[in-house]
Amino acid sequence: MTKYHELIRQFIGIYGGTEEGIRIFEAPGRINLIGEHIDYNGGHVLPVALEMTNVVIARPNGTDRLNLAATSLPDRVSADIHALENYKNLPWGSYQCGVAYVLQQKGYSIVGCDLLYHGTVPYGAGLSSSASIEVATAVALAKLGGRDELNMVEIALLAQEAENKYVGMKCGIMDQFAAAMAKKNHAIFLDCSTLEYRYVPLELGDYTIVITNTNAPHKLTESQYNQRRAECEQALAVINANGGNYPHLCSMSLDELESFKRCFKEEARVLYRRARHCVTEEARTVESLKALESGDIETFGKLLCEANISIRDDYEATGKELDAVFDIAMGIDGVIGSRMTGGGFGGCNISIVRKDRVEPFKKIMEEEYTKAVGYAPSFYQSNAGEGAREVYLK
Ligand code: GLA
Repeated sequence: MTKYHELIRQFIGIYGGTEEGIRIFEAPGRINLIGEHIDYNGGHVLPVALEMTNVVIARPNGTDRLNLAATSLPDRVSADIHALENYKNLPWGSYQCGVAYVLQQKGYSIVGCDLLYHGTVPYGAGLSSSASIEVATAVALAKLGGRDELNMVEIALLAQEAENKYVGMKCGIMDQFAAAMAKKNHAIFLDCSTLEYRYVPLELGDYTIVITNTNAPHKLTESQYNQRRAECEQALAVINANGGNYPHLCSMSLDELESFKRCFKEEARVLYRRARHCVTEEARTVESLKALESGDIETFGKLLCEANISIRDDYEATGKELDAVFDIAMGIDGVIGSRMTGGGFGGCNISIVRKDRVEPFKKIMEEEYTKAVGYAPSFYQSNAGEGAREVYLK
């Protein structure tokens, strides 16, 4: 029995009926190779979808209600499709209701349906579990509502809008775009100022990516994230109030930014450092693409380390757990690159490890991290997965 058959069985256990009318949708989590915290600053990013996903089993129910359930939680939600604005603060289910609300506002027809969620993307670990839920939900609801052909970039934008306006997390477009548009065995090089993109084969030769989850308790991530975003807006405002005319921070060169340094008063120096991270990160991301495309994995790894130092020192979006993983990784034989990935403030690190050194890497990391932090990390390895899709069972 496939995992899908098992989920269908559980779905029928919860909602009754038969298999008739049941459809299955799935969207992946992601890591970001480089280009961190610059999607909302008009920069480039380089995400890769994971094989870990969120699956939605769905069936129209002929009523005016969206019924939500999950395999891993006792929570159940029953939302009125004529009052979707009312479900913003649920302990679980707000992402789904937010997506339904935004789709409806944009003219998609939302029909009552029963939905069962099953996720293998670890929750709250910075691997975009929420974006994968949003995008899978958007595809499911749009298709159940009668749209057969979907514009997946539009789906990503609607999912982002739900998160920004309904849930209140002011995220950029990277995660939803990756969940909607990813391609198996590829990274996506995405220009977040235009949404132009291209697929880049993810070929690391003798190396592989090991994801280390710090398992740090999830605290204040959203407020710190929103604060960083506000700081970037303030930094740009300082620059443009002093004669600059830049649409976003990533449109500046480092020389240009430095010429505005004097405009940042002592107490605004922190804003200058935030801007410096954005400007240098953009340059590193473009260089990383070149390194990856020319098979220069060593240079690619070096750029990842530089990116980690910048986001740790200038952007201050890591924290003691991610810093510990980075420091430990840098001392392990066979590691040529390492950095935090995703929103930060806890969450995950990615390290580029020689394939024959993966087991020692995990062993040393586990021992030393546990000694430093007091609890163990988790590890994941995944090929580059594909974007959101409907699953058809044979
Ligand atoms: C979170 C957000 C993304 C992006 C990253 C940091 O994952 O959802 O939009 O800003 O953080 O790069």
